[in-house]
Amino acid sequence: MKVTAKAHTNIALIKYWGKRDEGLILPTNNSLSVTLDGFFTTTSVEFKPDLTKDSFLLNDEEVEGEQSIRVTNFLNLVRELAQEEVYAEVKSINAVPTAAGFASSASGFAALAAASSKAIGLNLTDTELSRLTRQGSGSACRSIFGGFAEWLQGVEADGSDSYAVPIAPKEHWDIRVAAVVLSSKMKKVSSRSGMKRTVETSPFFKGWVESIPADLEGIKQGILDKDFEKVGEIAEANCLKMHATTLGANPPFTYWLDTTMAVMQTVQQLRSAGIPAYFTIDAGPNVKVLYLPEHEAKIQETLQHIPGVTEVKLSRVGQGITYLEDEELV
Ligand code: DP6
Repeated sequence: MKVTAKAHTNIALIKYWGKRDEGLILPTNNSLSVTLDGFFTTTSVEFKPDLTKDSFLLNDEEVEGEQSIRVTNFLNLVRELAQEEVYAEVKSINAVPTAAGFASSASGFAALAAASSKAIGLNLTDTELSRLTRQGSGSACRSIFGGFAEWLQGVEADGSDSYAVPIAPKEHWDIRVAAVVLSSKMKKVSSRSGMKRTVETSPFFKGWVESIPADLEGIKQGILDKDFEKVGEIAEANCLKMHATTLGANPPFTYWLDTTMAVMQTVQQLRSAGIPAYFTIDAGPNVKVLYLPEHEAKIQETLQHIPGVTEVKLSRVGQGITYLEDEELV
């Protein structure tokens, strides 16, 4: 049976930054994200007895090397769960511009987990699916759910209590996110290696971890109360703390470029001018700006005029996993 699933990417408001188990992908802190409707991956999976290995097409092109190894490793987990030994044909279409600096791995692994587990005959609950997805890429486990989701770090060594849970559905609150794409796209340190170096060497890592519970408590209340200033302030400060840990690493590194800082300053100027807007940044130079629908025109206009900004992509809050009946990749 061929199954096609669609998953949206997510942006963390409270970042996942640090693992306690690299194999099982278990984090050192809870994180919280908003799922975005503008960026998604659609993946179809079919397990076929006549195949001698897995095949993986991304945007109609055969993928090999590290990316395909990660897909096969993930499919091995699915085969193990289902106790099957059959290879799969995987086809993905990424509507996440890789240049937008979104972890396309989040929507990618969420769609792969949903399609492959269903195609092999597993009937997983959302919790089981999130736990499985986590082992492909940590941030992806939050994309199982729409709206706002929290990934519980868990305490068990086997990862059984580490998965995402929904905090509020997409209908709860219409906030918007602008992805501000910069002209320089190269990511020198992957999130995986960046967080590893930070955990192992940064003296600021301890302070980062200790600061999480208060941020989480505040932001969850802010989301439930639809208190945009509160949510924005906490998200922006949390992002700055995460990035501060990288400066303390050995060797030190930063994901920021000059234009990254120009966008951050523009967002702060927008606030001084009375427009509530807040930034957050993942493991790359691009910036995501949170704003409210009534300020969309002004936000877009202002951001796209910053020198060094090539594109501003707007998004609303998105939904969780969906399965496409007609098996069409869109
Ligand atoms: C900065 O989920 O890409 O975007 O679990 O190693 O695949 P792996 O890492 P990944 O890390 C994302 C880090 C982040 C913050 C976040 O999304 O919470």
